[in-house]
Amino acid sequence: MKVVRTIAELELEPGTGLVPTMGALHAGHRALLTAARHENDRVVMSLFVNPAQFGERADLDAYPRDEARDLEIAEAEGVDLVFAPAADELYPAEFATWVEPEQAGGEGTARPGHFRGVATVCLKLFNVIRPERAYFGQKDAQQVAVIRQLVRDLNVPVEIRAIATVRDDDGLALSSRDVHLSPEERERALGLPRALQSAVGAADPVAAARASLNGLQPDYVEAVDLGDAKVLAAAVRVGSTRLIDNVLLEGEIG
Ligand code: PAF
Repeated sequence: MKVVRTIAELELEPGTGLVPTMGALHAGHRALLTAARHENDRVVMSLFVNPAQFGERADLDAYPRDEARDLEIAEAEGVDLVFAPAADELYPAEFATWVEPEQAGGEGTARPGHFRGVATVCLKLFNVIRPERAYFGQKDAQQVAVIRQLVRDLNVPVEIRAIATVRDDDGLALSSRDVHLSPEERERALGLPRALQSAVGAADPVAAARASLNGLQPDYVEAVDLGDAKVLAAAVRVGSTRLIDNVLLEGEIG
């Protein structure tokens, strides 16, 4: 497995599948890598904690990082090349052009500027790696919708694949941020998937989920229209950790 840190070192190859990540890899990322390995001749994983998608500096600083472990996992999953640039490789001092998705509701409203940062970095990764397919997790359902819209609107020649959320046995969706949860917080965090799941099929899923949050403070609970699908999505804070999750209400995300 090759690790490169500059755009100049990236070799373009047909049949490439891209798995964009911010590292701190877990079984959810492994599922993306496995799907990419099955469907492509070559797998490239990007490893870049994208400053442009974080609102608060403290959140960016607290994001878990362990490159040595991430590279071991990537190697074990059969990744051919890891692109792990420094921030100024993707955002040099003179950088001045941004992609502005018009995504309201859910994460779009709760984290102003977040999808601008996600869309900009993903378009840059698509341009420098030129993958045939790119892999994203359904846990970030709105992110999938933003990227699909970007690809349609800007005619980017890449197929966007959405892979099912990976959960622990007790239902908690895997997230890089889970490492910040104490055992007691992790127990409380289970209230999120349980509330969302219990609301599927209710006459008013938003109200039903809110009523079942078991004391967890939501940033939002919303039915979010993703075009082909509608999901019930929520973000909660458990201690200082912000967690998101969603369940499908209608349609299909994949
Ligand atoms: O989902 C993530 O980890 C990030 O938003 C992504 C897609 C790698 C862009 O920085």
